[in-house]
Amino acid sequence: MCGIYGYIGKLNAYEKVLEGLKLLQYRGYDSCGIAYYGNGFQINKAIGTLDNLEKVDKETKIAFGHTRWATNGAVNINNTHPHVSFDKAFTIVHNGIIKNADSIKDSLIKQDIAFYSDTDTEVIANLLAYLPGKIDNRVKQLFNILEGSYSLIIGYKNGDIYLVKKFSPLNLLQAEDGIYISSDISSLKQGELYTMQDNDIIKISKNSISNITNHQMNFVKHENSIKAYTLGKFKHYMQKEIYETPISIENTYYYLKNQKIRKIFKHYNKFTFIGCGTAYHSCLVGERLFREKLKYEANSELASNYELNKSISRHHLHIIVSQSGETADCIKVAEKIRACHGKLLLITNEPTSTIARMADYLILTKANKELAVASTKTYCCQLFVFAYICHVLKDKNYDINICQFTKILNDYMTNIKVTSLVEKLQSSDKMILIGRDIDYISLLEASLKIREIDYIYTIPMYSGELKHGTLSLIDENSNILALNTSDDIDKLEVVKNEIESRGGSVIFIDKLYRIDKSIDEYYKPIFSIIPFQILSYEIAISKGYNPDMPKNLAKSVTVE
Ligand code: AGP
Repeated sequence: MCGIYGYIGKLNAYEKVLEGLKLLQYRGYDSCGIAYYGNGFQINKAIGTLDNLEKVDKETKIAFGHTRWATNGAVNINNTHPHVSFDKAFTIVHNGIIKNADSIKDSLIKQDIAFYSDTDTEVIANLLAYLPGKIDNRVKQLFNILEGSYSLIIGYKNGDIYLVKKFSPLNLLQAEDGIYISSDISSLKQGELYTMQDNDIIKISKNSISNITNHQMNFVKHENSIKAYTLGKFKHYMQKEIYETPISIENTYYYLKNQKIRKIFKHYNKFTFIGCGTAYHSCLVGERLFREKLKYEANSELASNYELNKSISRHHLHIIVSQSGETADCIKVAEKIRACHGKLLLITNEPTSTIARMADYLILTKANKELAVASTKTYCCQLFVFAYICHVLKDKNYDINICQFTKILNDYMTNIKVTSLVEKLQSSDKMILIGRDIDYISLLEASLKIREIDYIYTIPMYSGELKHGTLSLIDENSNILALNTSDDIDKLEVVKNEIESRGGSVIFIDKLYRIDKSIDEYYKPIFSIIPFQILSYEIAISKGYNPDMPKNLAKSVTVE
């Protein structure tokens, strides 16, 4: 979703901010803008991509910008950041949502202050201009007045910059050539990094940095090659990331091997898995393994639908799975768990994320940055984490021959060819996916992939349920994808006959791509999902869609 990037230093600040915002593009955005300093702040805004922003010839040493993913108000220039106060003294970019913006706006309108946008950000700009007193104090007052989440860069007319953080992330990097600011750590390269804390206000005045809320600023060395941003031989990030799955799993394994897994879990016998979207599907797999293989009490909850049971026992561990660690629905759940003194484990790909800072325990997936909106390699790593943990909890001496495992996975992936399946499916406007047991969970995820990337309605179903209603949809135009990775007698054959006798056709993904029935069942969901990931990618390409940025979606969903 929205992104913030700023630069103050020796180099051309406008160009630096443009470069920085490009690194944030993966988050999804619909408009963008940059403020740059030279005799007050000047502003360039554009609808659509950063390429639509006008070039600026003048050299400027201070600039900051924003990529906007519309939440408050339509996609138009007036709503695009940066926003400027009525007296032109304050220029602001903002990530987050101000919950009491309407009431503040009403009271400012009563003071004859005019508004030109529908955004809550303009409310902050006008509030700052309206408040009396010194500028530092006005900025400090924001914490008393604003409700909600916000990270802000505020440019004052004399060139001073204020960084403000409450719940929404913001980071500052001191590099040799200047100061970089970003809402996304992974876009920052090399230098001394400070991850802003809630209620921090940092003032940057004539290149000197001070924390005017008097919080101690602990800078840490930060090295980041931003290799994740180069496509190499691939055409899209989604494609690149799918094929990075084996190496990501290998790195996750070496990381897990050095963690004291049994020490974390030994205190607990009840587990609630919580996540959204793809991460929720990995929760379902985790829950199932914990319940069936370890005989623990386990359940899964969608973060957006989560009701916390206030009487949490001390043997109850809440496990949030979130690739980004920034999903607003998950943050809300984490807050509730903390408020009730519950224990929280986060499984994430982002160790410095908001939820990572709230969790009692952290387990990482080592997938490197995932940029495409669709989660692929991180999902497989989450599945690997659960499978590995389950094995380790069953047998403290457990190990896996990771080289052999990744070789099998690599060979398997190399042999997945989807061209003829794409030809068959690309013009479908609906698809039914059928399977049983744990395969059904893989189909939930497969269905999500095909919906989000290919814009095709897909219905994942327990195969046995077809005859209880959905069979009425089947005709000669119906394509049904089936998954059967178990050793059971092929119950799906019966369903296949039911479909075929009504003119529909059934394609068994496990047979087509030879998912070996002898693969350790804990790890099998990794093998099950990959053909669907590749298929959804290739269908998108065949339809001319951009798989990295599906319409209406953002990489991390930072609003509830
Ligand atoms: C799926 O491809 C999406 N990226 C989405 O469902 C995602 O898994 C969900 O929004 C949760 O994100 P998180 O893992 O960063 O919390």
